[in-house]
Amino acid sequence: MVTLAENELITRVEGESPLGRLMRENYWIPFGLSQNLVAGDGPTPVRLFGNCYVAFRAPDGNIGFLDERCPHRRASLVLARAEGDGLRCIYHGWKIDVSGRVVEAPTQAVRHTQFCAGVPVVHFPVHEEAGIAWVWLGGGETPPFPDVPFNDDYGLEMVMTISMVDANWLQGLEGGMDSAHAPILHRSVIEATLEAKGDTDTRGVEATIAAPPLYETEAASFGMSQASLRRAADDRTYVRVGHYFFPLIIVVPNGYGSATHLFCFAPVDDTHHLVFFGNYGEAPLSLREVSGALEGPLPDLRNFASLRGDRANRWGQDRELMRSGHWSGFARSAIEEDTVVQVSMGPVVDRTKENLSSSDVAVAHARRLILDTLAAYEAGHLPPGSARAPGGVRIPQPFDAVIDAGASWRELHPSGARESPAPSAGGSASPS
Ligand code: FES
Ligand SMILES: [Fe+2]
Repeated sequence: MVTLAENELITRVEGESPLGRLMRENYWIPFGLSQNLVAGDGPTPVRLFGNCYVAFRAPDGNIGFLDERCPHRRASLVLARAEGDGLRCIYHGWKIDVSGRVVEAPTQAVRHTQFCAGVPVVHFPVHEEAGIAWVWLGGGETPPFPDVPFNDDYGLEMVMTISMVDANWLQGLEGGMDSAHAPILHRSVIEATLEAKGDTDTRGVEATIAAPPLYETEAASFGMSQASLRRAADDRTYVRVGHYFFPLIIVVPNGYGSATHLFCFAPVDDTHHLVFFGNYGEAPLSLREVSGALEGPLPDLRNFASLRGDRANRWGQDRELMRSGHWSGFARSAIEEDTVVQVSMGPVVDRTKENLSSSDVAVAHARRLILDTLAAYEAGHLPPGSARAPGGVRIPQPFDAVIDAGASWRELHPSGARESPAPSAGGSASPS
């Protein structure tokens, strides 16, 4: 249970809020899909931690990431012209290149070159990994990107989406962590996906609802691991272990295939966040399978799970569809289902009014982890998985396995060594 003051601490990210500062100073922040940043296109507006930026790709492939306001007299660079390796402000024509230097200032009559060299431009380094563009807002020396289990070195295929959600970042993160909701909220998506694969045995979904799994968590150097445990044949236990890479990334084995689900979150401001959802592996699900929208046009990859309304029209819920058997009435994608329940809680949920059940172990652990980490950071300790940690950071692959009676999943817990993606245990129809 958290207090009101604690709820403020774990949700507020704007300005000099302790959590916003901790995130900016220690982690690469995802802000866009690589494929949406196209050389020659207009600048992309970006908002993170309540601050506004623009991003653009230069013809050489590099990405510029600048404060939104022109360094001259603060017109928005969202309006700028894309010219070669830079942006040209439409107001007075100053040009800023991809590395963050003013290279032309047509309004300056004397000592032009020296003048340009002396104008400070607020800009930040960008790294692309897993089809996502990440920015380092922490200043100082740019640290290496962490060794994540989905990075390009593994040669794994990646399917990735981006969505803007009108709710605080922690509602998104907790949704990714709360595996108990999957066979319920996403029931129709799972059934349709299995059916499309020719597997009509959806008893796994029924079984999960009838007998919910047990959940356990364990602190890790990178954040936290969480396991769901289900009874298997011969007194054995089917265990599925996912990892929370503090504070913005979750990887979980997919329940119906060999791919691994990936969630990354980015705080836009106190009441909005971005969610990057996708999967990776040797044979990841297709975009259509990821969406769960097995028919019709695919959702837009610039905002995959945009809702079609607000509370007045139940956010576009299709009650007719529900009457014909659909569980949620949101059939466009599983992420649309996630998004709508998070938005329906209100912009920042009041966690003092909740009543947690046994399935909420990971959610409760994560909240405590954030609070403890904030306190430790104040006392001068680096947070888990900080990009500033000497020697870098390595996150292991999630995995699933069938273990003997009396054995513990913790003994199988990989210490961070590289592995191939988790093979599916097979036969299970319910995602953890
Ligand atoms: S405000 Fe941008 S060039 Fe003057
Ligand atoms: Fe979900």
